[in-house]
Amino acid sequence: MSQTPKIYVAGHRGMVGTAIVRQLLTQGHPAECIVTRTHAELDLTDQASVRTFFETEKPDQVYLAAAKVGGIHANNTYPAEFIYSNLMVQANVIDAAFRNDVKKLLFLGSSCIYPKLAAQPMREDVLLTGTLEPTNEPYAIAKIAGIKLCESYNRQYGNSHGVDYRSVMPTNLYGPGDNYHPENSHVIPALIRRFHEAKVNKAPGVAIWGTGTPKREFLYVDDMAAACVHVMNLDKAIYDQHTQPMLSHINVGCGEDITIRQVAEAIGKTVGYQGEIIFDTSKPDGTPRKLMDSSRLNALGWQARVELEAGLHAAYQDYLINYASKI
Ligand SMILES: NC(=O)c1ccc[n+]([C@@H]2O[C@H](COP(=O)([O-])OP(=O)(O)OC[C@H]3O[C@@H](n4cnc5c(N)ncnc54)[C@H](OP(=O)(O)O)[C@@H]3O)[C@@H](O)[C@H]2O)c1
Repeated sequence: MSQTPKIYVAGHRGMVGTAIVRQLLTQGHPAECIVTRTHAELDLTDQASVRTFFETEKPDQVYLAAAKVGGIHANNTYPAEFIYSNLMVQANVIDAAFRNDVKKLLFLGSSCIYPKLAAQPMREDVLLTGTLEPTNEPYAIAKIAGIKLCESYNRQYGNSHGVDYRSVMPTNLYGPGDNYHPENSHVIPALIRRFHEAKVNKAPGVAIWGTGTPKREFLYVDDMAAACVHVMNLDKAIYDQHTQPMLSHINVGCGEDITIRQVAEAIGKTVGYQGEIIFDTSKPDGTPRKLMDSSRLNALGWQARVELEAGLHAAYQDYLINYASKI
């Protein structure tokens, strides 16, 4: 391996992939040692193209942040696409990485891998202990398969080939590059859009489903990217001390959850919306609490840094520049 590793970031145009590239550059990794391909240039579900790409580029490390991602509606409407695409992308990239002597790979999963009724905060070892949330079960099964692909390659080829493939499971992410689609976005981008539109249209109030009391955890995407690079670069002996061969994934969260009311009020303040926030208690609340237990990652020397207020400010600036001005 050359002194400066050649790093392939799969999914570099997505919210997380963009932040990983940003993080690598910030940490001084030379741009010419980062390899990327757009979806149009390389369809990762196409095994032959993926193999040719790895044979040609011969990266030393891979961040696997490419995935077919979507909200409840998309997951419910296109379950076949969600399970097929994600299984294919992971299997193709991980196997091609192995065949081309890539020693280090980081796979990105999601907190939806955990059972619907998992004890809170959710520890890594609740994986495969209960039934998944049905709406995104196909996607979650693919993500679980991604973890097991990494672990299986490690178990079979770790000693013989030096394979060291790791997995991280992020909580809800937000920040620059988020998806602000009106029907298909997560809580924070959806509320940024709605508060901004209410401000522009001088609407007297913004209605939010439920009581506002459910609690959720949010992590700024640059914190996530920093955690990815941290986990990738951890010394193997230390990583092995904190993980097990068949329970190797690592949660990534900020460690605190806040109520939907608190997040709505914080976004209203960030956007400068003066109207009322109305909680429509005739609508369902969803799960009362969803929080990752990130103590494994904290014990490995990483903590989130970006406070919600600063993160929301950066996200809103990105929304104004890249989305609101183009609607
Ligand atoms: N955002 C969150 O809150 C969150 C939370 C937990 C976990 N994660 C995980 O983090 C990872 C990245 O998520 P994200 O939010 O960055 O998603 P994203 O913004 O949708 O980015 C995903 C990227 O993957 C690319 N891609 C998808 N299918 C591809 C294919 N067949 N070939 C090549 N490229 C393909 C997409 O390109 P196109 O757009 O051109 O298809 C896109 O650039 C995912 O594994 C996700 O599960 C995200």
